[in-house]
Amino acid sequence: MNPKPHVIVLFGATGDLARRKLLPGLLRLFQAGLMPVDFRIVGTSLDDLDEDGFRRIARAAIDEFSRTHVYEQSWEAFARRLRYVSGSGGPSALHAAVHAARGELDDSAALLHYLSVPPKAAKAVVQELGEAGLNRDARVVMEKPFGTDLASARELNAAVHEVFREHQVFRIDHFLGKEAAQNILALRFANGLFEPIWNRQHIDHVLIEVPETLSIGMRGSFYEATGAYRDMVVTHLFQVMAFMAMEPPTALEPRAITEEKNKVFRSMKPLVPADVVRGQYAGYRDEPGVAADSETETFVALRAEIDNWRWAGVPFYLRTGKRMAESGRIISIAYHEPPQGMFPRGSGVGSYGPDHLTFDLDEASRVSLSFYGKRPGPGMRLEKASMQFSLDETTYGHDVLEAYERLIHDAMMGDHTLFTTADGIERLWEVSAPLLESPPPLEIYPQGSWGPESQHKLIAPHRWRLPFER
Ligand code: BG6
Repeated sequence: MNPKPHVIVLFGATGDLARRKLLPGLLRLFQAGLMPVDFRIVGTSLDDLDEDGFRRIARAAIDEFSRTHVYEQSWEAFARRLRYVSGSGGPSALHAAVHAARGELDDSAALLHYLSVPPKAAKAVVQELGEAGLNRDARVVMEKPFGTDLASARELNAAVHEVFREHQVFRIDHFLGKEAAQNILALRFANGLFEPIWNRQHIDHVLIEVPETLSIGMRGSFYEATGAYRDMVVTHLFQVMAFMAMEPPTALEPRAITEEKNKVFRSMKPLVPADVVRGQYAGYRDEPGVAADSETETFVALRAEIDNWRWAGVPFYLRTGKRMAESGRIISIAYHEPPQGMFPRGSGVGSYGPDHLTFDLDEASRVSLSFYGKRPGPGMRLEKASMQFSLDETTYGHDVLEAYERLIHDAMMGDHTLFTTADGIERLWEVSAPLLESPPPLEIYPQGSWGPESQHKLIAPHRWRLPFER
């Protein structure tokens, strides 16, 4: 489906996210025939570049980060639509550049601003858009973090609302653009099998685990002010948790889905520091841009509770960290064990933990169900078996849009389904307040490990799902 003609203004056009995801993603959409029939991309940043300079940067980024083959003819057609204006020219230069780009399309061309800028700059850019008169009938995509606590989130939202109405704002959380996250909705609400057992009567606990092997690299100064909790939990992990936990929406449309997600956030109990483990990888303090006595966490594990009819008493255990032993992105539901131990001791039952339904948020979008089955041969010996679905084994494997691609397309279509809202975000900062006010002490963990020891006490008698055994 093609959006109508667009001028896309890309703020932070030479930055890390633009180079890694946005420019390659826009070209990918173009090659997939999903861009508007005509469009201009006006890049802007503090770098003093001309259009050819910007094209060279875009091309280098695409060569380095594109996941799919770049067709020269497509690149040339794409590059012809790239414009650049330096941020140093202020609102009037920006206005002139957008006006010129619009003039090349027809008058009805839509205007989409993509703010790929550090949190501190977001407010200033929004104000600049207001001053340049570029807010009228425009949409704006904003990147996390949306504030660093309740007060700053409210302040940012108020500043945004001075210039844009809420329906114009698209707060991006790229985890929601992952196919696998949306597959949670499909699996839950398109089948009769799962929803009846999606509650406290059948589910013992839920695990959301996103360990990463990568370090913070060159993002030291951003990360120092952010940390694992703000970088990953308030944004990505709680958002996918809401997809897992929400009630069936009255319709598969943005308002109804958002309403149900926000109800989950409203039902969350405030996070108490005793239910949180914070860690920092050894050597983090030597990374560029990091303070020698930094108290920023690079690992966090926590227990969350959703205090409603469906989930009362079911703990949600979340963990994520940098420089860990393996990378993974899973959501796993652990079912109650059967009420009676009918199988003899030593048969193997129970030794691999409960049955799990697991969603893998990786590109293959794997969904697997692990359960006990009989090992062939005499006697009754049990072992874990699994049933699995994976996009790798389907014909769609190569056509899958990457999360950012999908979300940029949705924003051009004006579809809010996979975006977050101001009140949902503010509520998440509200439940985070006790933790942010008195964070538990940091524990240092070795690089390449699974993180601090206390995370196991936090979850006992249960176990984390990763690394997978069975
Ligand atoms: C980003 C975080 O939002 O998500 C990074 O800022 C993190 O720290 C990344 O590494 C993970 O995203 P993905 O899609 O690679 O799982």
